[in-house]
Amino acid sequence: MCGITGYIGDRDAYPIVINGLKRLEYRGYDSAGIMMYDGNSINLSKTKGKVSDLEVITNKEEIRKIGKIGIGHTRWATHGEPNDVNSHPHFSESGDLVIVHNGIIENYDTIKKELLSRGYKFKSDTDTEVLVNLIEEVKKTEECKLGKAVQLALTNVIGAYAIAVFDKTKPNELVIARLGSPIAIGIGKDNEEFFVASDASPFIEFTKDALYLEDGELAIIKKGRKIKVRKIDNDKPVDPDIQELKLSLDQIEKGGYDHFMLKEIYEQPKAIIDTYRGRMLPNEGIIKMAGIDDNISKFLNADRIIIIACGTSWHAGLVGEYLIEDMARIPVEVEYASEFRYRNPIITPNDVVIAISQSGETADTLAAIKLAKSKGAFVFGVCNVVGSSIARETHAGAYTHAGPEIGVASTKAFTTQITVLTLISLKLAQAKGTLSKTAVNNYLQTMQQIPTQVEQLLKIDPIVKDIAHHYMEATNCLYLGRGFNFPVALEGALKLKEISYIHAEGYPAAEMKHGPIALIDENMPVFVIATRKGHYEKVVSNIQEIKSRRGKIIAIVTEGDETVKEIADHVIEIPETEEALTPLLTTIPLQLLSYHIAVMLGKNVDQPRNLAKSVTVE
Ligand code: F6R
Repeated sequence: MCGITGYIGDRDAYPIVINGLKRLEYRGYDSAGIMMYDGNSINLSKTKGKVSDLEVITNKEEIRKIGKIGIGHTRWATHGEPNDVNSHPHFSESGDLVIVHNGIIENYDTIKKELLSRGYKFKSDTDTEVLVNLIEEVKKTEECKLGKAVQLALTNVIGAYAIAVFDKTKPNELVIARLGSPIAIGIGKDNEEFFVASDASPFIEFTKDALYLEDGELAIIKKGRKIKVRKIDNDKPVDPDIQELKLSLDQIEKGGYDHFMLKEIYEQPKAIIDTYRGRMLPNEGIIKMAGIDDNISKFLNADRIIIIACGTSWHAGLVGEYLIEDMARIPVEVEYASEFRYRNPIITPNDVVIAISQSGETADTLAAIKLAKSKGAFVFGVCNVVGSSIARETHAGAYTHAGPEIGVASTKAFTTQITVLTLISLKLAQAKGTLSKTAVNNYLQTMQQIPTQVEQLLKIDPIVKDIAHHYMEATNCLYLGRGFNFPVALEGALKLKEISYIHAEGYPAAEMKHGPIALIDENMPVFVIATRKGHYEKVVSNIQEIKSRRGKIIAIVTEGDETVKEIADHVIEIPETEEALTPLLTTIPLQLLSYHIAVMLGKNVDQPRNLAKSVTVE
């Protein structure tokens, strides 16, 4: 959701800023823009559409040849429709200041009225243009430098932001600030250059030294000078915590795959291993998770566990509910973070909250965590992005180690979240004695086979592609599953919806009779998960019910299944495993299926319309 890039140093800024924007495309956006300063004047280009559309414009202009300082932006519209005028960067009234902004200024209307009364005019409908003019007004009235003006202006702002601001009257520096929206600063050798970006991916080949601004911090970057960081609320200096980046270039490139989504689907065997590596010793029956070990009494004495998340992470949370209740016998509730935060929920210090988020930046999940903490609950995070806001806001946690997930549709994040939740469930079951030593050891050993089994499943991709051919024209699809695989049905439907724009619904198989069965006719493909140990006979009956209404059945079954093969139109076999672990397998063909259908329909798989990878607004 919105991306910022920037550069200041001795290199040509244009390629760095524009390539940076391309790396941030995965976040989701509807317009793009860039500002370059050529030593004399500001050159600005922006357009509705993709970064490639922006490049077409800048190809014809001088902007690409000039400038050692520049900022760029990809915008995901919040205030004001996606069009050229509303795209960033935005000028201030005088034309001296230029800003790019991620987030929302909630009180922009009040500020705008005040600025209008002081004679400011606005070209766009955005809250961002209001912010840059507020900074200009403060700079004028306080007669201060840009850094101070930004700091003072931000103390009047309610909302969330990551911003980069340039001032033509002092053209050798950029001011960066953050509240609720991530921003990283890459630091070149001897402070001779600086890179700015919403995450580190745009500058990974230039420097490994990065500073992630904390909420409420402002930084001033100037070529040849040490970075200066201050607190926005009280202007106090902060010692910058410069970290060494672990990210590598090949992790953020497609590596020969047509799409990031496909690459990430194929990365799952490794991602699952990376997630459990060092955390389980199957032969000894040992599970080591520092965040759980250090807080085990909180979990064991909890009245209940509340899992909060959004989207795919919420689906993983549902699998977590089934796992924890089944294995550790602790009551679990799973909540959409967006509902939880606003419905006045009952939360007590005896509750443990598990917050799940790939990006670690989802605004609703973050707000739900803050609410739970304010009521005294212990909050445990399951995040993928190291150092993300949710990882920092929670009391303890476990990373998923899936590596960067760039395709907007979550794939490896889902399976690695389930991997972490399985380990948590087993750990709690072990500590509570709700599973025998033999049962825990058996689970751990079976778990160790999962990555090879996922590899095996990826080999049937051509079969899945053939099935995709049959159903690419469908306008509606139903996904059914029971028990551990009910959340997988929800996730399968979400994957199809979001990248192919085909309407799909997931249901617990037995619920079909209570409504959705009315939809079934010869045009309705129904994807049914019918694993051998998962209430198999009941699901087979559901399949019969679909068959009698001439629905098309695509069944995911355990290898060697003969019964469903007789009835279904298509069958996909998964290797045998414990039923509790089947979501890690059944989900793979459903991911591949959605991917192939979307490709066949010519959709933008990695950047589906209207979607953002990290939803930093509520
Ligand atoms: C779907 C998808 C979204 C995210 C949701 C939460 O493929 O990616 O539904 O799962 O926006 O995001 P995180 O996990 O980053 O909090």
